[in-house]
Amino acid sequence: MRAWIVALGITAVLLAAFVLVAVTRQKAHALDQVNGPTTQPAYALDQNDCLHCHGALELTTRASSGAEVSLYVNKEGLDASAHRYVDCVSCHTTKPHDVPTPLSKLSLAARCGTCHQYEYKLHLQSVHGQQLLQGNEDVATCVDCHSPQVNPHSIVRVLESNAPAYKQNISQTCGRCHNNEPLMARYGILEKVYESYMRSFHGKAMKLSPTANITQLNKATCTNCHGTHDIKDPTDPTSPVAGVENLARTCEQCHPGAGVQFASSFLGHKEATPENFPMVHYAERFFALLTASVVALGVSLVLVETGKWAFNRRPKEE
Ligand code: HEC
Ligand code: HEC
Ligand code: HEC
Ligand code: HEC
Ligand code: HEC
Ligand code: HEC
Ligand code: HEC
Repeated sequence: MRAWIVALGITAVLLAAFVLVAVTRQKAHALDQVNGPTTQPAYALDQNDCLHCHGALELTTRASSGAEVSLYVNKEGLDASAHRYVDCVSCHTTKPHDVPTPLSKLSLAARCGTCHQYEYKLHLQSVHGQQLLQGNEDVATCVDCHSPQVNPHSIVRVLESNAPAYKQNISQTCGRCHNNEPLMARYGILEKVYESYMRSFHGKAMKLSPTANITQLNKATCTNCHGTHDIKDPTDPTSPVAGVENLARTCEQCHPGAGVQFASSFLGHKEATPENFPMVHYAERFFALLTASVVALGVSLVLVETGKWAFNRRPKEE
């Protein structure tokens, strides 16, 4: 009799547990259907189904310049971008087709500037922005420095290590244009600014620093000396590299107490040739020669000593 009661009790508990599990699973399933499974990645917001048409590769139009422009929006790029939580219509208004868009580099920057007003304002005052205002599309604008594909729909956050604006990548980003000799020659910029930077202490140390550790990327890159959204022509007195006093203040951001003496020893991007910097050029030559002769002397001393030692160790003839 006692055994029967125990068995019945166990069965009842098992049955109750089974029902409980089944009900919770049912509820979870229903929730999934409303919210989507919780493991799904965050997708670009497209609440008006714009991608129904703009997800097609072959959709194109003509820009005001007459050039053919693709109207294809790469969803994967947008999904991975800084703007994945921003809906199409936040950037394009709810009636994107009503206003003809010039689809130029300037109209692009203006659209970014509707939200990022501070960066836009600085950009328009910079050497790049000033040229852009005059219709020159050779210069850098937002997408050139913020999108690996140079596309408004794949802007990468600054602190992601694949971002063109990530500190270790900045020299390559500027180098895309400033290491392009024919392009630079058109503007009379003959100095090899990218090469000389990569040769410098800062450039080498930056290249050798571990990518993932932002605190170790503390060496100077292009934007530390020239500014970011407010880059100026170095002959403009407001440029942080114009004149030895501005330059000293720029070095002092990281070399406390550097002063004008320290700054005036800096060659900029110029190479120490006999014409440019004769003192530095001949000093460099002198020290190179000195180092070479000291090494040569050391090596020959070792050779002579080894020879002597070998000579003394040879079996002596009686
Ligand atoms: C029914 C298909 C369709 C849908 C849906 C659609 N578009 Fe378009 N869109 C087009 C076509 C076609 C053009 C090219 C028009 C032209 O060449 O004048 C275009 C052009 C554009 C342009 C370029 C500017 C211009 O006017 O030339 C933008 C920006 C744009 N669409 C954004 C959007 C956004 C944002 C949405 C969602 C709110 C959207 N579109 C929904 C078909 C569509
Ligand atoms: C963060 C802002 C932003 C978001 C979000 C955004 N766009 Fe754009 N889009 C831009 C900018 C900026 C341009 C360049 C406009 C210009 O040149 O005048 C552009 C251009 C376009 C163009 C013209 C072709 C081109 O690539 O230059 C189309 C079409 C377009 N967007 C569709 C969309 C659709 C569809 C979505 C949503 C899936 C979307 N956009 C989301 C900022 C955005
Ligand atoms: C509708 C407003 C809007 C427009 C237009 C817009 N953005 Fe943004 N942007 C945002 C918001 C909001 C964020 C912050 C997203 C976050 O932190 O999740 C952001 C983030 C960014 C970031 C990352 C900042 C960081 O701290 O790393 C960059 C870079 C950026 N935007 C550049 C652009 C560029 C370039 C354009 C034009 C192609 C543009 N944005 C257009 C709203 C906008
Ligand atoms: C010449 C390259 C360049 C151009 C052009 C440029 N940016 Fe940047 N931007 C950078 C760099 C590099 C950073 C990283 C932070 C820094 O060094 O200040 C940055 C940072 C940002 C940030 C993050 C917040 C901040 O200020 O640090 C936003 C947002 C942004 N840019 C938006 C824009 C917009 C919008 C435009 C166009 C109007 C633009 N940028 C044009 C290089 C550029
Ligand atoms: C898309 C191409 C492009 C990119 C990217 C670019 N620039 Fe430029 N930049 C130019 C062009 C073209 C000029 C010449 C404009 C002129 O002199 O009228 C210029 C001018 C300059 C000047 C003024 C030089 C002078 O003597 O007038 C400086 C300084 C400069 N850029 C620095 C930078 C830095 C730093 C970066 C990276 C953060 C950068 N640029 C990214 C195209 C670019
Ligand atoms: C340590 C500071 C420093 C760094 C880092 C630096 N520059 Fe410069 N840059 C200068 C100074 C100083 C000048 C003016 C003297 C000269 O032209 O050499 C200058 C001049 C320039 C000019 C104008 C050259 C001309 O002939 O008109 C350009 C363009 C330029 N830099 C781009 C860059 C780029 C791109 C980078 C990164 C790859 C970079 N700079 C890194 C300090 C720096
Ligand atoms: C963004 C910060 C930053 C700026 C701005 C900067 N530097 Fe540096 N610099 C560094 C760091 C970090 C080192 C490496 C120090 C070390 O590892 O000992 C360094 C090293 C150097 C070195 C070689 C090693 C040494 O300590 O003597 C020289 C020379 C130098 N910088 C000159 C300059 C000059 C000149 C300027 C201004 C035109 C300047 N730097 C601007 C960060 C900067």
